[in-house]
Amino acid sequence: MWVCTALSGARTPAQLRRVLLLASRHCGPAAASFSASAEPSRVRALVYGHHGDPAKVVELKNLELAAVGGSDVHVKMLAAPINPSDINMIQGNYGLLPKLPAVGGNEGVGQVVAVGSSVTGVKPGDWVIPANAGLGTWRTEAVFSEEVLVGVPKDIPLPSAATLSVNPCTAYRMLVDFEQLQPGDCVIQNASNSGVGQAVIQIAAALGLRTINVVRDRPDIQKLTERLKNLGADHVITEEEIRKHEMKNFLKDVPQPRLALNCVGGKSSTELLRHLAPGGTMVTYGGMAKQPVIASVGLLIFKDLKLRGFWLSQWKKDHSPGAMP
Ligand SMILES: NC(=O)c1ccc[n+]([C@@H]2O[C@H](COP(=O)([O-])OP(=O)(O)OC[C@H]3O[C@@H](n4cnc5c(N)ncnc54)[C@H](OP(=O)(O)O)[C@@H]3O)[C@@H](O)[C@H]2O)c1
Repeated sequence: MWVCTALSGARTPAQLRRVLLLASRHCGPAAASFSASAEPSRVRALVYGHHGDPAKVVELKNLELAAVGGSDVHVKMLAAPINPSDINMIQGNYGLLPKLPAVGGNEGVGQVVAVGSSVTGVKPGDWVIPANAGLGTWRTEAVFSEEVLVGVPKDIPLPSAATLSVNPCTAYRMLVDFEQLQPGDCVIQNASNSGVGQAVIQIAAALGLRTINVVRDRPDIQKLTERLKNLGADHVITEEEIRKHEMKNFLKDVPQPRLALNCVGGKSSTELLRHLAPGGTMVTYGGMAKQPVIASVGLLIFKDLKLRGFWLSQWKKDHSPGAMP
């Protein structure tokens, strides 16, 4: 989900759900203080004090800005999206939950306003994004510790910078970490129009990989097909079409995919498995249908398919500089 309105102009959580938040974390080191002030302050934030339905538990509050210490960076948020994981985190259904109360939002881009005396990696004017999930980006500004930020170039579009840290990284890791794919090899995925799906299409095309992209049917399917093909998709197929027997003929010119990327679960993931090459891998990274992955015994025995999972937060933890080998 992609939101876009100015936080400063919004009045209610409902309005705020529809926007690209022009905003700015809690749950990390040196964030803005959480005492919701009685006086209007400069910092406005979308805060939740307990888990539940985001429309009911998220409130627009004024926060006090912490003083900028030696290793701190004062950041003015420029843009922040609403991702499914942001919603899951507020609901309390996510693998990583912040200490409450918390500011919502895991992704975004901000501009450095001021830095503490020992900060060396960024300077005022630079653009920064969160290094990890849980920064609480739905706020106008904040004071963060330098170590939780990563500098990014300022010559990329703002929406791209605001959505750089999760979906494209997830897409890239899944494409390179599970199967040794060569140019010309093929990848199949569902929810191909999702943020992750679109990143998969573009990165796969850049790596010379072909993609079979499954989407849900809709009245303007042609428009969506065209848009995904413009991004580099080779085939765009609906969930209904992929279940048809004739699909085998349609895909006969494409090598059988050795990698499947599953964002949905349920029947959709069973179909991906059916089209995988013997010995291939299906990586599950999302469960949009809220249904379990069902793999037929025959496919597991006779095709020796591998079922794996991926979570970017765990990957980052495992690959952080201090992580144990
Ligand atoms: N594991 C990780 O590290 C990781 C990283 C990033 C994202 N994710 C997960 O990946 C998923 C997608 O994230 P995103 O930011 O790319 O999402 P997004 O851009 O909001 O797209 C959501 C996608 O899910 C589809 N969808 C929604 N409800 C569905 C249903 N009931 N059945 C089938 N498809 C459904 C949508 O299709 P329609 O257009 O047809 O509605 C759309 O393609 C989320 O579950 C997110 O938590 C995981």
